[in-house]
Amino acid sequence: MRVSFRVNGDPVAVEVEPRLHLADCLRDGLGLTGTHLGCEHGACGACTVIVDGAAVRACLILTAQAEGASVVTVEGLSSDDALSPLQTAFRKHHALQCGFCTPGMITRAYRLLQENPSPSEEEIRFGIAGNLCRCTGYQNIVKAIQYAAAKINGTQFQEAAE
Ligand code: FES
Ligand code: FES
Repeated sequence: MRVSFRVNGDPVAVEVEPRLHLADCLRDGLGLTGTHLGCEHGACGACTVIVDGAAVRACLILTAQAEGASVVTVEGLSSDDALSPLQTAFRKHHALQCGFCTPGMITRAYRLLQENPSPSEEEIRFGIAGNLCRCTGYQNIVKAIQYAAAKINGTQFQEAAE
């Protein structure tokens, strides 16, 4: 079947099997391999993308369900020239080790900061609760999101006492 939607602002049209989930379409059909696949059953959050403004798991929706939608992947969150504030923050605060969870984590955090520009630590932890990381222990991920929030808001980053 033919499905038309927008990805990172550009219109795309793909011919897909009706059963193809959006993550496979993005990765294999459109070459956007920043969207990772871990569990493929909605448990890990590695495949998180933004569809019509909502952070969703691309392994849980069919490509056909994206008809007419606006999809943003991690590739769409930065320009060719510069990292996004969240990417800069993740690098600065060592918020990744293997990096497998990172695109989904950043995509989820991006929406979290749009929904709540000044989240508390508890709200950050709740907001990323659906994104699993096997490496970091989350501490530096939370710190990076706090740092990005401060940068976006133009406020001072206050590092919590350990
Ligand atoms: S790959 Fe989609 S939630 Fe794990
Ligand atoms: S950095 Fe390895 S899974 Fe998160």
